[in-house]
Amino acid sequence: MFQSFKPASRIDEVRYEIRGALARRARELEQEGNDILHLNIGNPGAFGLRTPETMRRAVVRNLKYSEPYGPQTGIFPAREAVAMQFQSRGLTETRFDQVMIGNGVSELVDLVLRSLLEPGDEVLIPAPDYPLWTAAVVLNGGKAMHYPCPADQHFWPDVEAIRAMITPKTRALVVINPNNPTGAVYPESVLQALADLAAEHDLILFSDEIYDAICYDEARFVPMATLASETLCVSFGGLSKVYRACGWRVGWAVFTGALERAEDYRLAVEKLAALRLSANVPGQWAVQTALGGYQSIADLVAPGGRLHESRQAVIEACEKSRFLDLVVPMGALYAFPAVKPEALADFDDHRFAAELLEQKHILIVPGSSFNIRDRHHFRLTLLPEAEELALAFERIEDLLEELAEEPERVRIAKSA
Ligand SMILES: Cc1ncc(COP(=O)(O)O)c(C=O)c1O
Repeated sequence: MFQSFKPASRIDEVRYEIRGALARRARELEQEGNDILHLNIGNPGAFGLRTPETMRRAVVRNLKYSEPYGPQTGIFPAREAVAMQFQSRGLTETRFDQVMIGNGVSELVDLVLRSLLEPGDEVLIPAPDYPLWTAAVVLNGGKAMHYPCPADQHFWPDVEAIRAMITPKTRALVVINPNNPTGAVYPESVLQALADLAAEHDLILFSDEIYDAICYDEARFVPMATLASETLCVSFGGLSKVYRACGWRVGWAVFTGALERAEDYRLAVEKLAALRLSANVPGQWAVQTALGGYQSIADLVAPGGRLHESRQAVIEACEKSRFLDLVVPMGALYAFPAVKPEALADFDDHRFAAELLEQKHILIVPGSSFNIRDRHHFRLTLLPEAEELALAFERIEDLLEELAEEPERVRIAKSA
């Protein structure tokens, strides 16, 4: 008798519901001929938002130079362009060798944690989080310690709560700004308090800034590296979101701050990067083009722009709703509404997401997938056109009405 092939038990600890069971069910429904509105992923190209043409040209023209492996740290013009972006942010000393290019931020997150963590080391991660961070800590033997970013405090990190969580095993503090899933953009005072806390306790700051240029209305993005000179700060950015090139898989990590104390660590990250030879080369040729000159993302987030108007549609739908509460997203590509407990007792985010998919053909992500215990939230992307989002919210409201009229159904569904 053959045994079944069992996955490693640590995979059980990994959660990534953005592309999990609900997304699989959505595919089945599509195969049966249904149209499903996918609001689960922040994938601009899937909603018709194209990569700027100049970037596409840069890749095509350099394709012939993309056939060999590149350097493990990335091609020089890409690294230099990122260093120059940091220089223009006031970090005038930044050099290309502080920049590492990877296959998206996703790969770099794994590399920086794999190079750092001993078994049981603790990493402070926001809750709610982008679950890649928690998964990468767990897979690399660390312990994810989730710090609160309460909805009634604009989803900003609770600095005193973080302070109370620091132990001798704490190695790093992760900050995601602008935030996925909440859309929060942290003010300078909060970022400075986080930088000071990290410096005081000698923690590495990992600042995930992949949505850096996606801010709405009066929100302003402040780069963590400009506030954190006393400890090592690793800032992450990439082409996926701001430049709408998710599929090219290009991201970067920039090492700033206490570099003299971080040389061995940086070389360790480079060693792991060398093991995978190089990141995808073609997309790297577009980094210089992307970061220089006219920034078309500014038009999309300004009043009248596609993302601004879609966000407006979500804000208006939540204001109109009898059931929904929204902390208005100030950045990134998501909204994270909550169902008011007083409007719908017994609400459960997972059951709701399942029913919304089955009955209204809309795919969202339950809030508790982002490592919070609260089961009243859900996440959706702001990427569709405003009209499509307005219609989606009509269907969401219909389902909430149905559940309010038939509380029995909520209870039955919950125990199913
Ligand atoms: C906060 C955050 N970090 C990182 C990533 C992954 O980015 P990349 O496409 O560069 O791997 C995402 C993708 O959604 C994200 O939301």
